[in-house]
Amino acid sequence: MRTPLIAGNWKAHTRADTARALCRALRELIDGVDGVEKVVCPPFVYLTTAKSVLDGSAIRLGAQDVHWQDDVAATGEVGPAMLAELVEYVIIGHSERRANFGDTDEVVNRKVKAALGAGLRPIMCVGETLREREADRTEEVLVRQLRGGLKEVDLPDGFVIAYEPVWAIGTGIAATGNQANEAIGLIRREVAAMCGPEKGESVRILYGGSVDPGNIAEFMAQPEVDCALVGGASLNADSFSARARRPWPSNWPAASTARSSGPTRGRCTAAWTSAPRSRRRRSGRRRRTT
Ligand code: PGA
Repeated sequence: MRTPLIAGNWKAHTRADTARALCRALRELIDGVDGVEKVVCPPFVYLTTAKSVLDGSAIRLGAQDVHWQDDVAATGEVGPAMLAELVEYVIIGHSERRANFGDTDEVVNRKVKAALGAGLRPIMCVGETLREREADRTEEVLVRQLRGGLKEVDLPDGFVIAYEPVWAIGTGIAATGNQANEAIGLIRREVAAMCGPEKGESVRILYGGSVDPGNIAEFMAQPEVDCALVGGASLNADSFSARARRPWPSNWPAASTARSSGPTRGRCTAAWTSAPRSRRRRSGRRRRTT
């Protein structure tokens, strides 16, 4: 059975006082919510602040990025061993880093390996742009990002991937439940083809992009979706809590058939087997212009 995970990506928001207040409110509101792993990812400078408030709670801490090396001349970067002293999770390959900070698939791959090597749990993001979706290239892009990002990675059970269509991030235009389910199904099949069927079953795949309290149930009703990565709206404690505690369909997760054998690791091969092709569809949606 896959444990759903909801993560809040604070991006470059908050100050020390608001970060502290948000953590206090979340601790109050969702610490006791069972059946879902809860993660908050504040900016680097507020990780210690957040940790001091969240220590002893069930809310896990994550960072928003990591360098692939420790103890090197890399001005401004934060290495995996340093982060492992503070956090459990780390977001890697977010589309904002891919688009604005040069995080190629190869860089993502280095970061994923380094994070796992340091004992961190990556949340590896993949997703197509609107142009790519409209050109019917969603499948090609997702497969490329997965093959590049997971190349020769020793994949632990429960590894986390976030499917975040770039056109849905921060736009207020979320994917439909069907679109998310279809893309996440494709990702799961590709992971199975690359890393073995057990890894395909156990990998947790989140949907991210304009998730709000009004649409979370639609995503959670999809058999492939293992909960959400929430961006800007995770800055509001009530709103983030509503996502974490909303009652989801009782049969969820319908597709959770992971075998009960103990933890295994499967190296993702470079000699790829093609995953079954998914039915392609166009979004037909446009980026909000206001
Ligand atoms: P959003 O961002 O929820 O604000 O669309 C999602 C993300 O960037 O992870």
